[in-house]
Amino acid sequence: MAREPKKRICVLNGGGDCPGLNAVIRSVVKTAILRYDWKVWGSEDSFGGFLKSDKMVPLTLDSVRGILPLGGTILGTTNKGNPFRYPVKNKEGKTEFKDYSQKVFDTARAMKLDGVIVIGGDGTLSIAHRLFEAGLPVIGVPKTIDKDLLATEMTFGFDTALHTATEAIDKVHTTAESHERVMVVELMGRNAGWIALEAGISGGADVILIPEIPFDIEKVCQKIRQRAKEGRPFSVVVVAEAAASSGGSPVYRQPHEGDHRGDLGGIGFVVGEMIQERLDVETRVLVLGHLQRGGSPSPFDRLLGTRFGLVAVELVAQERFGLMVALKCGQVESVPIKTAIAGQRLVDPEGEYVRTAKAIGISFGDV
Ligand code: F6P
Repeated sequence: MAREPKKRICVLNGGGDCPGLNAVIRSVVKTAILRYDWKVWGSEDSFGGFLKSDKMVPLTLDSVRGILPLGGTILGTTNKGNPFRYPVKNKEGKTEFKDYSQKVFDTARAMKLDGVIVIGGDGTLSIAHRLFEAGLPVIGVPKTIDKDLLATEMTFGFDTALHTATEAIDKVHTTAESHERVMVVELMGRNAGWIALEAGISGGADVILIPEIPFDIEKVCQKIRQRAKEGRPFSVVVVAEAAASSGGSPVYRQPHEGDHRGDLGGIGFVVGEMIQERLDVETRVLVLGHLQRGGSPSPFDRLLGTRFGLVAVELVAQERFGLMVALKCGQVESVPIKTAIAGQRLVDPEGEYVRTAKAIGISFGDV
């Protein structure tokens, strides 16, 4: 019986790193080699391997040995790797953007690639979708600690970030109580409040401020005052990085400018100061930052990443391009990439998680 011709595939990740990326890469490589006997390459620094040959590396079983418990990604990553708007320095040292997308197609053709597995969040998946529409055989794998992608119930990376954030809130609790202070903990998540909401509930926060529910600082202070009156003169306030007061706007460390989408950060200090101004209580602020993106992936993220990797390879085998693997009712399925990037998955202010938190007395600063 004639054997199926061997396929040649490439895997890459783009945007911010996230625990579990190595689990996906390992799963793609192992499945492609052990089940299908394919050849696999990895493109370093997002689409870097398509633009510079030394960044396209062969991946073997040896390349992925021992990487499952490692945070980060063996392929490196960047959020400045968009081949349609690739940043290059001109003679004056200024950054200009060039369209190198044709190079991606030239490389794919020269390497005779049968499939490109792109692991990314909304930004990288949007690029992947554009390349697919222009003819590249792309499969998407959703990645982000923010859990803000539509069309999948879960992205790998979120669970590890949630563990890190919950542990931080637990630790902050004991020092808040010992010193009778208000501790404000600022967490990541971009425009979605998932990390703050879930870590806040899991860590027993007294106040959770998320972008989906604008807050009134007076209501936050009321909650802290009420706790003090009831004999608990300390409070833990969890703030999502894009939370904003009613009528206010999110705080940026570096504002949106040109191609740069802006770096959120600093709302924790703003909230801390507002509390200190209004209440006679010492306030301290912790910005957890990139700790939430690092560390060894949780078993859940390793498992989800491994499951996603398998289905991504199966989709290449079936030549069903333009699809993204997704978790639906606990099963890994596939959906068009465009459904995942059509908007953002935000917290429902009337949803079950918020109702649960409110029922156990957590304030969102809104009532
Ligand atoms: O999207 C993941 C994320 O960690 C966000 O939660 C955060 O706002 C952003 O990336 C930080 O990006 P950078 O690594 O570029 O500072």
